[in-house]
Amino acid sequence: MSSERGTDSAALDVADLDEGAAARELARLARLLDTANRAYHTDDAPVMSDAEFDALRVRNSEIEAHFPELVRDDSPSQRIGAPPAEGFAKIRHARRMLSLANAFSDDDVADFVDSIRRFLNLGPDAALAFTAEPKIDGLSLSLRYEGGVLVHAATRGDGETGENVTANARTISEIPTRLTGAPDTLEVRGEVYMAHDDFIALNARQAEAGAKTFANPRNAAAGSLRQLDPTITAARPLRFFAYAWGEVSAPLAASQSDAIARLDELGFTTNPRFRRCKTLAEMLENYREIESERASLGYDIDGVVYKLDDLALQERLGLRSTTPRWAIAHKFPAERAWTLLEGIDIQVGRTGALSPVARLRPVTVGGVVVSNATLHNEDYIAGRDSKGEPIREGRDIRVGDWVEVYRAGDVIPKIRDVDLSRRPKDATPYTFPQTCPECGSPAIREPGDSVRRCTGGLVCPAQAGERLKHFVSRAAFDIEGLGAKQVEAFWRDGWIATPRDIFTLEDRFGPGQPRQLRNREGWGEKSAQNLFAAIRDKRFIGLGRFIFALGIRHVGETSAGLLAAHYGDWQSFRTAMAAGDEGELMAINGVGPVMARALLGAFAAEGETIDALAAELEITPAEARASDSPVAGKTLVFTGTLEQMTRAEAKARAEALGARVAGSVSAKTDLLVAGPGAGSKAKKATELGIEVIDEEGWLRLARGG
Ligand code: IVH
Repeated sequence: MSSERGTDSAALDVADLDEGAAARELARLARLLDTANRAYHTDDAPVMSDAEFDALRVRNSEIEAHFPELVRDDSPSQRIGAPPAEGFAKIRHARRMLSLANAFSDDDVADFVDSIRRFLNLGPDAALAFTAEPKIDGLSLSLRYEGGVLVHAATRGDGETGENVTANARTISEIPTRLTGAPDTLEVRGEVYMAHDDFIALNARQAEAGAKTFANPRNAAAGSLRQLDPTITAARPLRFFAYAWGEVSAPLAASQSDAIARLDELGFTTNPRFRRCKTLAEMLENYREIESERASLGYDIDGVVYKLDDLALQERLGLRSTTPRWAIAHKFPAERAWTLLEGIDIQVGRTGALSPVARLRPVTVGGVVVSNATLHNEDYIAGRDSKGEPIREGRDIRVGDWVEVYRAGDVIPKIRDVDLSRRPKDATPYTFPQTCPECGSPAIREPGDSVRRCTGGLVCPAQAGERLKHFVSRAAFDIEGLGAKQVEAFWRDGWIATPRDIFTLEDRFGPGQPRQLRNREGWGEKSAQNLFAAIRDKRFIGLGRFIFALGIRHVGETSAGLLAAHYGDWQSFRTAMAAGDEGELMAINGVGPVMARALLGAFAAEGETIDALAAELEITPAEARASDSPVAGKTLVFTGTLEQMTRAEAKARAEALGARVAGSVSAKTDLLVAGPGAGSKAKKATELGIEVIDEEGWLRLARGG
């Protein structure tokens, strides 16, 4: 290495360098400083003095200042650079970052294995191997390498788009910035986490400095990675386990276990507690072993992840909307603690649901101080389930009781049990309010619904306010300058009552009006103009976002996206909502009866309000799925027997290629796949002049050839 330090151009004044020499020197400096960094941070064995290190960095910056077009992705100046002006830039993941379905019992794991066998049409005795490894409780990160160089690092975000935390990731010593022998394009995914010792030491340092301490290692890891100033990240002891990958230009291996071994060879840290299991019994045995080692691992884990080992089979199984069918997280039982129930509050949500919240004497559960927990609904408090069957052997919960709290992962803490032996003599059964605590309207429970709801609709401040807040939230309309606080103030003063009113604000409170936004407290000429402009911008909105923004129960971002992809444009979606056909909705992958009913109910009750809103907007059609398959955007029907794949697999495969799969043949059908034994559907398709192909033809399409 010392020979490298003394190359000829190093002696030259920057102004005397030509482009070629500058590029060569920048490459050399990148290598040199990277080695020095590693030696210092990873090996605790510095190879140069601090002064020498600084001098090389200065040299690097000088050359970059002269030749800005030569700044390298792996430049030392990018390692701990200046903080970006505001927030993090966004990065779209080349392949979606997935989450995992959960299993909470051995039976759930057995079901998972069975469902894979069924999907693949394998008998109970056919060999099927899985991997088992700890589920790290940190935050996931995707690292993209091109030509062996780390070009960017992104958090998971919503799975499609994450935050660009490249500068921060470069400060983590377990993340290589260069790889040798890697595929040209390689996205490595894994978990950033903080070890227990490091967490305790960090909190001690923070406390000493009068700075914020962290509730648990996960929060500390997340808070440290998501720092606008990478020098802060650099000072935090973060670590990284690689366990998956995204886009790759050449396959890493043929199996999960070999792919992980390959990542290990490339210089990533992979989890040593990784095993290949040939049977369900072995998977469960590994779970118990990992659970027993949990306390001595030195970092937090919250379960065991099983993945199907054979990558070709993983590919065949494919994905549900956000989770793969070939993997599952077997979670450890939640952590628990006993404490005093000091009171019960009722919160009114966006959909009018009255939710009881337990106010608790603060208690630490699994390292986090808990002072609120959900009590679900009135039946739960009374000791009954939704069918009227006793839960907790019928024990009800009263204010003044000692209750057992638990939390699993990041979710809201819950109450599990109550200790009758410690119940105060004067404790009385809890009476659930029959009127809304916010607006006084009657609160009604529909037959079959476990939840009592305020009937005040938009009259109810909690509902109207919550809905408006949802409407302007990040994943919905996301109007700059119009956050929850502003919406609440406008709503309180009667400036806006429903989402539509946002789009008439300028007409009512703009220039020339008797009352003007710019004269309102906290506003001025400029901010008022900016807000009106931001609102005008959002008159154009994608269909998926629009559906999500409506705040219909059970319709989250993913479901709204599915609906948008299925219907394509607003008019088709609106027509289907008016037609009110629950069956048609349920034929969409990802839509179940509960969501179908909620959608139709919302349009039946509020169709007019929604239409008035839509009339103010330009709702743009859903983006066509990124697929160049000939079946993308087509409607397919399968009939008869398929021999090469199960019906479920065929449907999933078709949807993955961007096609819609319908249950019956109609004028909208583009293609019928008919196996042996096809009957009336094939006949109808022929009558309608629809193309009919056999399974062989389908397989060619499905394989993209
Ligand atoms: S695999 C195939 N393996 O758990 C899907 N995830 O609940 C990619 N996680 O978002 C995930 N340890 O952040 C996988 N050994 C492990 C994991 C792991 C932790 C996290 C990951 C994921 C979340 C899903």
